[in-house]
Amino acid sequence: MPPALVPRVRIVLGCNVFGWRVTDAEAMRILDAYVDAGGTMLDTADQYTAAAPGLSGGESEDTIGRWCARSGRRDQVVIGTKVGLMPQRWGLRAANIERAAEDSLRRLRTDHLDVYYAHADEVQVPIAEISAAFDALVQAGKVRYAGISNVSVTRAEQWLAWSGEHEEAVPMALQPHYNLLHREPFEREWAHVAERHGLAVYPYFALASGLLTGKYTVPEDLEADGFRVQVARRYLARDLFHVLNGLRAWAKEHDVEMATLALAWLLHHPRVTAPITSVSSPMQLEAALAATRLSLTEDELAELHGLTLSA
Ligand SMILES: NC(=O)c1ccc[n+]([C@@H]2O[C@H](COP(=O)([O-])OP(=O)(O)OC[C@H]3O[C@@H](n4cnc5c(N)ncnc54)[C@H](OP(=O)(O)O)[C@@H]3O)[C@@H](O)[C@H]2O)c1
Repeated sequence: MPPALVPRVRIVLGCNVFGWRVTDAEAMRILDAYVDAGGTMLDTADQYTAAAPGLSGGESEDTIGRWCARSGRRDQVVIGTKVGLMPQRWGLRAANIERAAEDSLRRLRTDHLDVYYAHADEVQVPIAEISAAFDALVQAGKVRYAGISNVSVTRAEQWLAWSGEHEEAVPMALQPHYNLLHREPFEREWAHVAERHGLAVYPYFALASGLLTGKYTVPEDLEADGFRVQVARRYLARDLFHVLNGLRAWAKEHDVEMATLALAWLLHHPRVTAPITSVSSPMQLEAALAATRLSLTEDELAELHGLTLSA
């Protein structure tokens, strides 16, 4: 795995909340605090956050771009962004990938994207076309590494094989959905794909979009936040709160914040390079970074596995 893909502090700062759930001033403070603490990797997408009322996408990249320009710290961070889900630049046709990359470069105010992910698949597009489009960006120096997210294992394997055989840019990074509430298909499938191909692995929804923070103990806690209600539907609908409260009790007993515990658990998986998490404040950032200092024993990991599987 290229050394540039291993962040110095093993927490990737997710930036999908910028321009949406945190103010511009807070975003600048969070970015400064993250880099001050030794953080080196930011994750965004052209699409963030088109789904939010009143926004159209590009807001997150634009915030990062302004922070880079204002702070002069662009060369201190590795920036990952994505193509495929922004409504105005949807899909993985070669022409779209090329234009979307130009848009991201402009918003990020940079001359290269360190990691450029396919955010989701467009299965009608042949792998040869996708691979060639990413390779052209790498050859032009506009992208350092290609990455994969939300693509089937079959198509990912095809892309990895095709690019290798045709001496095109082989994807080097993977973003799977993986956390204490959602262990498969990562453990069954993707961990092995990552090992076979030496991919850097950055799990997203590391805190199940905020559920794994101890803030929600009964379903009513979610009701004040419509976004979180939607998130909760993604997980174990029937037993969600049983699992959350078990983990919360475990965290309390061990005197650790639940968010710290959830991230530390991910960091103990041998295939995980660094989990991605977003934060709404520098205080939440502290809890995230504390995960890199939390060591869990084999017995503790087994207890936690038991809690996630007991649902
Ligand atoms: N590849 C993909 O398809 C994909 C998909 C989704 C996300 N992502 C990436 O992954 C990143 C993270 O995703 P995410 O933001 O949805 O989920 P997350 O990291 O699982 O959840 C983060 C949210 O939890 C809350 N939180 C964090 N630390 C906390 C603490 N210590 N105490 C209490 N609450 C805390 C904050 O929200 P509140 O303060 O508002 O409660 C924060 O925004 C995104 O920014 C994005 O870069 C990638």
